[in-house]
Amino acid sequence: STVDWEIDSYDTAGHAHFLVKEIHEQPAAVERTLSGRLDERFATAHLGGLNMDARELRDIRRVKIIGCGSAYYAGQMGAQLIEELARIPADSEPASEFRYRNPVIEADTLYVAVSQSGETYDTLAAVQEVKRKGGRVLGVVNTVGSAIARACDGGIYLHAGPEISVASTKAFTSTVVAFALLALHFGRINDLSPADGRRIVEGLKALPGQIREILEQEKEIAELAAEYANCQGMMFIGRVRGYPVAREGAQKLKEISYVHAEAYPASELKHGPLALISPELPTVALVPDDELLDKNLTTLGEIRARAGRVLAIAHRAPDPKLANHSVLVPRNEPELDPLLLNIPLQLLAYHAAVALERDVDKPRNLAKSVTVE
Ligand code: G6P
Repeated sequence: STVDWEIDSYDTAGHAHFLVKEIHEQPAAVERTLSGRLDERFATAHLGGLNMDARELRDIRRVKIIGCGSAYYAGQMGAQLIEELARIPADSEPASEFRYRNPVIEADTLYVAVSQSGETYDTLAAVQEVKRKGGRVLGVVNTVGSAIARACDGGIYLHAGPEISVASTKAFTSTVVAFALLALHFGRINDLSPADGRRIVEGLKALPGQIREILEQEKEIAELAAEYANCQGMMFIGRVRGYPVAREGAQKLKEISYVHAEAYPASELKHGPLALISPELPTVALVPDDELLDKNLTTLGEIRARAGRVLAIAHRAPDPKLANHSVLVPRNEPELDPLLLNIPLQLLAYHAAVALERDVDKPRNLAKSVTVE
């Protein structure tokens, strides 16, 4: 199927940059990614383009996701969703690493290529490597009819609308939503209960409104961004579901503000990077109110004890002794919370870049789509 883009979607429509316009388009982009795909009766998702029936999907024992940049990080969130909802081992790997390491291609592994543009050369080459060895590849792609979409055996189109700014925001979010749909569909073919399926369907339906709520805090996040942008660098930490969020948050900040940022699993801090912590290197911490909350709060205490500043992205504000500032996001289902925790990090990166007067939509040295080796 195709979507006809409005011609005025190619100007910034009153926004200062395409990037912030695309951040604000996310509720609508998510609605389009979900449109016509939720099945309330059977608490599952319909994905007409997979070209795989239930019997073929039941035989899948592993999912390997490949992509570059933000597509790779979205794939990490996707892998977690597939493991959690379908209980199938899944992981995400940079497409360039995959294609150059003579990968073992297994008949009962499903390969999934992720690409906003559908034209990234390394991702396309990875798809060709899988196909050459007889493997099956699905595409999670935004651009209809693109090279990667055509090379795949089937897939899911995002329908997020055109993304102009080099740094990916709405395509990233829509990709994770597409993976949630795939994980739900997969899960309901395997052992995901109808009650859990319903929980995810309801969670997905709540996303656009909850993203809007987060976007309403833009002014406060912009003030924090201006305050934190003048630093030596930033640390991003998260645990399990929070870790891919930290990686994407650090990536976004680096890409558009040129502030050095590192992402670490929270528990790895004490194995090295804690040595970096100082008032000049603040930490952005993903602190969802889940079963790992106490562990995360302990890590914040370790940072504060080294005079590190902490900006928490959380469901409930931690004690002010543990976090200098907090941005609160609404609660969804734990599996879908990473999607929402990421939204403030987009605004943080954007407003840090604006405060530092960077070329937001066209960061130096980067291209929207890397179509060469
Ligand atoms: C480039 C862009 C990134 C993007 C990556 C993958 O490096 O600068 O923002 O995530 O390509 O692009 P794709 O179109 O394949 O998702």
